[in-house]
Order: sequence, then structure tokens, then C-alpha cells
Amino acid sequence: MPRNPAEPLAVVLRRDTADPLPVQLARQVRDLAVTGALGSGARLPSSRALAAELHVARSVVEHAYDQLQAEGWLRSSRGAGTFVADLPTPRGAATRSTSPRRRGRPENDLVSLDTGTPWQDPRVDPGWRRAWRQVSMTKPPKGYPDPAGLAELREEVSTYLARRRGVRRAPEEVVITSGTTHGWALLLDTVGSSGCVAIEDPGYRAAVAVAADAGFSVCDIPVDAAGLDVTALSRLEQDDVRAIYVTPAHQHPLGVAMSAARRVALVAEAARRSAYIVEDDYDSEFRYDVAPLPALASLDRHRVVYLGTVSKVLHPGVRLGWLAADRDLVRRLVSRRAARRDHPSWPVQLAVLTMMREGHLDRVIRTARRVYAERTALVASRLGDALGLEVAASAGMYVTVEMPEATARCASAAARAAGFDLPSLAGFCRTSSRHGVVLGFGGVSDAELHRVLDVVVAGVRRAEDSRGQA
Ligand SMILES: Cc1ncc(COP(=O)(O)O)c(C=O)c1O
Repeated sequence: MPRNPAEPLAVVLRRDTADPLPVQLARQVRDLAVTGALGSGARLPSSRALAAELHVARSVVEHAYDQLQAEGWLRSSRGAGTFVADLPTPRGAATRSTSPRRRGRPENDLVSLDTGTPWQDPRVDPGWRRAWRQVSMTKPPKGYPDPAGLAELREEVSTYLARRRGVRRAPEEVVITSGTTHGWALLLDTVGSSGCVAIEDPGYRAAVAVAADAGFSVCDIPVDAAGLDVTALSRLEQDDVRAIYVTPAHQHPLGVAMSAARRVALVAEAARRSAYIVEDDYDSEFRYDVAPLPALASLDRHRVVYLGTVSKVLHPGVRLGWLAADRDLVRRLVSRRAARRDHPSWPVQLAVLTMMREGHLDRVIRTARRVYAERTALVASRLGDALGLEVAASAGMYVTVEMPEATARCASAAARAAGFDLPSLAGFCRTSSRHGVVLGFGGVSDAELHRVLDVVVAGVRRAEDSRGQA
């Protein structure tokens, strides 16, 4: 008799999907470990017993267990069985009840499918603990820290940008920020308090809010399959465009990449208007078909202001990012900031420096990329099948699918009835009129994702059927 009986596994394998059975099983067991439903040290059923229970070949279970052992979720000890590895995060009830994606009153407790919540790998937690220990053992600087950011962190970011994004900027051309929106606000505050900024429509709503709060008028520029429509930008009558805010690697929220021709045209148009291009490079690390696309900042080092963030890789609550620009602009930004003392907190900078030096950013990117690639393909194929079209999605942690307005409304309503808040594409539009859903899958479990896809697909099918009959 084993000392600890094996945990019964709440998994369901489906034969009517394209996902191979070992992949389905590995995903669901991983999910049980991530959410704490299977705690550290929990014993798993033997491959023979689980295979019999699930009515699958034993090799299906063996493959899934092997994969999860290779990823570090499971360990097996000869003759004793297979167990959940020692996972560091105290998870379970406390984690669930404080989860930021479950908002509002209990009766309005929807699971958010937003685009901004990344998947959390609990294996990164020991790294955080070491990082905070390091902070506690380090003597703080005298007085206020350097307004440009910690010198060592600027160096680390400079190396990271060259290595990961092909953006070559000296540490003196990097400013540490409290995230993308903070960097954007700092730039606007430095370039003036009047005029206009051009922003993609549909686009990143926080960027619009920051610009409007800073007193700028916002000019909405349409987006098509090649990114921001530069011809439309060139027709803009306003002659006081100070900055053009774009997401070239992965347009938010349409998901397209800006073509090379558009990039060149954009740089020329920005030069004609003496405007800065602000490149929001929020999730470029996550590309699944080809290598991450080069940053626009590598095209023009003077005109492009590059904004990066750890929000999509580590956590949006860390509030840390970076801005890279030419030296002269950096000097102006830093002196403006010194006057306002709004630099990011020194302990947070030091903790992120330690995380970067110890390779945790790279590691999280590697692991999350696998999870996101699987989820992207799943969402695209399920929604594409339901609509009878091919959905192209190969980057990031959300999938946007355009569909008729009534179908999108039906999809969101079906999700809501099942307890999910599924953003509509229309919610990202200001003057443009596009319809569809924007399904962010970083912050949900695999089981939740499967569930919401089932109900959304059913909603889409219902709407499409009634359109066909009308
Ligand atoms: C387009 C875009 N840019 C940037 C961010 C991250 O912003 P921050 O670094 O301020 O957290 C997000 C987060 O959702 C985003 O959607």
C-alpha cells in the first residue's frame, strides 16, 4: 500500500479536437499544479491506472508525464511513483480570493479575459525571493536615487534591448520608468502641454487617456492589415502633431504587424512633421511563427522613442519599464523628472535588476511562449472553425477575431452568462467601427479557457445560424 494514495485527477480528454491526447492531458495536469488543485508532493495515479480510468493507451499518460517531468512540474522516484514537484508558491484559496482578474461584487464576479494579464509561472517565485533578499541586504543610496534610474539597471536594459530587440542604445540613452504609460506621460510632459498626438484607432486606450489628461488632443488614425495607415496620417490637417503612438510589432488590439514599407513611410512622415514616433513594444517577445520582429527603433535612433515594460513578462503590478531615446532627449527627460522626483522606486529597480541578471526574464519568456503558442493556436482554430474562416494569430497573449456586430454581441453575452468578461473589439475603437472579440488568455487557466471557448463557439454558431436563416 502506498503511504499517500494517489490524488484523483479531474481531467477530461476529448477526441473531437485536433489536440493530441498527451498534449491535452499534460495541459490539464499542469493546470492543476499551477492553480494548486494538485499541491506540491501530491502523488499522481500510475500511468497504468490513469490510462485505464481515461480509456486511453498507457503511452498517452507516459508521454504526458514525461513532458511534465521535463518541464519540472512532476518528479518521479523509481518504484515510489510520480509526484507533483515542490512548487514554491503558496497557492490555493488565498491566491484565488485575491486574484486581480476576479473583480467586483460576488454577484458580478466575472473572470476577466483582458489583454494585459500574463500567465504566471510559479517557478519564478524563488527568483523573486532572492531578489527581495538582495534588496534587503543592500544599502540604499543617499538621498534620492539617480533620476534616470539605477546605473546597473540601465546597463542591463541596454544589453537586453540589443540582444532581444536589435535596439542598440547606450545605457545613457535609457531611462527607467514605472511602465509604458509612465514613460509616455514623461515624454508628453517634456515635449510640451499643447498640440496633438496621433494614436492608432482601434488602439491602446490607456495611451489615449494619458495624452488627454496631459492636455493634448488625440487624432485617431485608422489601422489596416499592414498597421497604422500612414496615408491617413499624412492627410491630417493639424500641423502640431507632437508624437505618433504605435504598436508596430503587434498592433493593439488587431494583432497585425506593421509592414516594412509602412515603417519606412512612417519614419518619413514623422520627420516631415518633426514629430516623435513612440514605439510601444509591449509584448514583442511573444511571437510564434517567426523570430520577434525588429523594433522600429532600430530604423531611426533620433525620432523613435522606444517604450518597454516588464508588465507582460513578470507582472503588471511590478510597475517597471524603460524608455530608450537619443541622448539629447534623455537629458531633457531626466532633468524634467529630477524636478518632479517621479522616478521609480529604488527597491523595485534593484529587484528587477537581480531578476534580469539571474536570467529569470529570459526563462519566463521561454516558458510562457510555449503556453501562449498553444493557447493562440487553440483560440484561433476554435473561433475560426465556428466562423468558417481562417484566423491568423501568431503573437502575444490575446487573439482578436473580427465578426459581424450581432455575432460579437452574442459571443460576449454567452461568455458573460458563463461567468467571463470577454472584451469586444468595438470597446477599443474611438472613431473607427470594427466588431469582434478580443480574447486575452494570459490570466486564465487551461480549464477556464476551454470552458469559455466552448460557450463562445456555441454563441457564435447560434448567431451565424440565425444570420443564415434571416
Ligand atoms: C498596448 C499595451 N501597451 C503597454 C501595456 C503595459 O503598460 P504598462 O507597462 O504601463 O503596464 C499594455 C498592458 O496591457 C498594453 O496593452
